[in-house]
Amino acid sequence: MHHCYLNGEVKPITESFIHISDLGLLRGYGLFDYFRTYNGKPFQWELYWKRFDNSAQKMGIENPIAKETAYEIVTQLIQKSGLKECAIRFVLTGGYSPDGMSTSKPNLLMISEDIHHVDALSYQSGMKVMTYEFVRDIPEVKSTDYKHLLILQPTIKKAGVSDVLFHKNGEVSELSRSNVFHFKNNVLVTPNENILNGITRQTVLELALGKFKIEERPVSLAEFLNADEVFTTSSTKRILHISKIDDKVIGNGKIGKNTKVLQDQINSMTQNW
Ligand SMILES: Cc1ncc(COP(=O)(O)O)c(C=O)c1O
Repeated sequence: MHHCYLNGEVKPITESFIHISDLGLLRGYGLFDYFRTYNGKPFQWELYWKRFDNSAQKMGIENPIAKETAYEIVTQLIQKSGLKECAIRFVLTGGYSPDGMSTSKPNLLMISEDIHHVDALSYQSGMKVMTYEFVRDIPEVKSTDYKHLLILQPTIKKAGVSDVLFHKNGEVSELSRSNVFHFKNNVLVTPNENILNGITRQTVLELALGKFKIEERPVSLAEFLNADEVFTTSSTKRILHISKIDDKVIGNGKIGKNTKVLQDQINSMTQNW
């Protein structure tokens, strides 16, 4: 059974409620973070905590909990889930507001969840995505605002793809919930503007150090479409190759050899976490 910590109390999720005056609900004033366990231990906890704290600062919402206390609650939630592996979601909102505008005390939720695994077939066939001209609001913040993606769901389904590739003014940034990389002539390239600082992105960059030449820089859409290999990274996908962007098949549509090297590495890192 999954549990939720809300303002000092841990309860079963079926008994956790938030009041209708919450500014996350009324004004979209909220942020979150999301990580998972491997071998029952939170993966890259330090990095996720730092990003969560940073998002709170950037949104002007006070982070109401100390790192050590948060870790104790996370451990408790994992134990209570009874699962070998689970995901943890932190949600921080502006809190309850008497007039829909003024803030006093933020609301912090920490929730254990099932992991929604990527199916094995997707790792074979890769991901098909469609381009979409858009940059997220305050991209470095993991805000709760994913409305564009939700509005686009019927279009995404109709196009037979599984996600959108954001680009703006000719530059690519990320997918809706994951970062992007490409290989061209064995050089690993990833955009460094208008992106969320993905923890998997950071992990992959570290794993690639010393193995590949790395460039973190703006990437044009034309360059991206012409890449030898393209892949995306996120906490749930780890590394998943992108086989098709709009009508353009990347490489031969199969996972590229360099991508496979990094995929094997991150899979081995998580298996041994
Ligand atoms: C917009 C966006 N970019 C990138 C990522 C990937 O981040 P991470 O690797 O930390 O999961 C996410 C994750 O949800 C995201 O929402």
